[in-house]
Amino acid sequence: MKATAKLNKDTILANIDSRIYGSFVEHLGRAVYDGIYEPNHPSANELGFREDVIEVINELNVPLVRYPGGNFVSGYNWEDGIGPVEERPKRLELAWRSVETNEVGLHEFMKWADLAKTEVNMAVNLGTRGIDEARNLLEYCNHPEGTYYSDLRKENGAEEPFNIKTWCLGNEMDGPWQIGHKTAEEYGRLAEETAKAMKLVDDTIELVLCGSSSSKMPTFGEWEYTVLEHAYEYVDFLSLHLYWENFENDTANYLAKSVEMDKFIKGVVAICDAVKAKKGSDKQINLSFDEWNVWYHSKDADAKREPWDIAPPLLEDIYNFEDALLVGCGLITLLNNADRVKIACLAQLVNVIAPVMTIKDGEVWKQPIFYPFMQASNYGRGKVLRLDVKSDTYDSIEYKDVPFVETTAILNEDKNEVVIFAVNRSQDQEMNFETQLDGFENLSLIEATELADYELKQTTENDHNGMDVKKNDSFSVENDLVSGTFKPLSWNMIRLSY
Ligand code: AHR
Repeated sequence: MKATAKLNKDTILANIDSRIYGSFVEHLGRAVYDGIYEPNHPSANELGFREDVIEVINELNVPLVRYPGGNFVSGYNWEDGIGPVEERPKRLELAWRSVETNEVGLHEFMKWADLAKTEVNMAVNLGTRGIDEARNLLEYCNHPEGTYYSDLRKENGAEEPFNIKTWCLGNEMDGPWQIGHKTAEEYGRLAEETAKAMKLVDDTIELVLCGSSSSKMPTFGEWEYTVLEHAYEYVDFLSLHLYWENFENDTANYLAKSVEMDKFIKGVVAICDAVKAKKGSDKQINLSFDEWNVWYHSKDADAKREPWDIAPPLLEDIYNFEDALLVGCGLITLLNNADRVKIACLAQLVNVIAPVMTIKDGEVWKQPIFYPFMQASNYGRGKVLRLDVKSDTYDSIEYKDVPFVETTAILNEDKNEVVIFAVNRSQDQEMNFETQLDGFENLSLIEATELADYELKQTTENDHNGMDVKKNDSFSVENDLVSGTFKPLSWNMIRLSY
């Protein structure tokens, strides 16, 4: 099979906001305790954070981490996590029915984020709490000094404000499972008033309004419209969440599921712009895809767990090669919508539906989904180029006209590089891929790599070093033409200099 593409250096689709490579750490399962934090581990620093885990996270080059939830935030009292650790309360944590010790709280997490070279995207509790808690937390974090909460932060050891820039107004408030679930009207009004108060405290922050928990929610569409009608002038982003499953074990259909992500994004953009038009506003609302990933492998095991453990192993999906291919398609889809998707968070980062796993007292290891994310995050910076792609298509049970090749091209002007990412969804056909790049001088190949040749269900659970990207020797450049071969079922990256 053959696919062709054409691009021009001057035809830019979007500037990439680096926050598109964000991730997520929730107080859930072993994400925090026995994940990033394990004070008795040989690699733990004086704060109890595992340095071996930080090192692997640094390879992912994650610029933003959403915290502390997720469903967790809707029952969380942030005040439980400040002050002397030995005085902090242990609480029943209702979202995941665990016990929260509060050993790690705001100050500890901010220190971890510094070590992990990332910014924090903080969520406020709009489930059991509201305007007052949100404005107090913001004053505590961002106000320099001379007020009750800012001075309390200083007393607790942080002389300088945390200056957290991006804030989520609650989490999945449309979901009946959410503690303090609300109708769109109820949430829209609360979010509007909370956002107003927060921007009075600090008008430099950016706020994310909750959209739907998935495009399959019965309220999808109406929810977005209603909450935006209320909060439009005070917020900057609307959120989207999406988790993929393959219970039916149908590879062709599964790998096509990124098409759904694309449709979801375009639908939400249309609603944002409809509200903008109705209001006659000049302001554009962008998207924060602040939860996305594969999540299904662990669901049966989790359903059988008894409640009230500390850091139980929950949502510990063991990913396979097939999942890595779909995550690759997801990354390409986000990039191809980077004109409106400015934030995205791979959910999550460590142990909980995560690219990075830890063993208590033992190793840190990388799941298959680690590799496409690592390459996209490190090399997919700059601008997305408009790409005219011609690829054969196929039909699956749910999707029609799915291109065999999913691809995107990135222009990195700081490094004089063009980077192409591509997934070949074909299960048995190699794809000869040819791209014409107009407007560049002295194009040459830096490297072509592939994640390929693995069994679809292969994991790295037992052989932690059993999967990695390898060199693809088939690619070459002649004048403005780049050509080579994508193996069947492969994630690919081609880097060119000019
Ligand atoms: O990421 C796991 C959970 O998925 C989050 O807590 C919640 O927001 C979503 O339903």
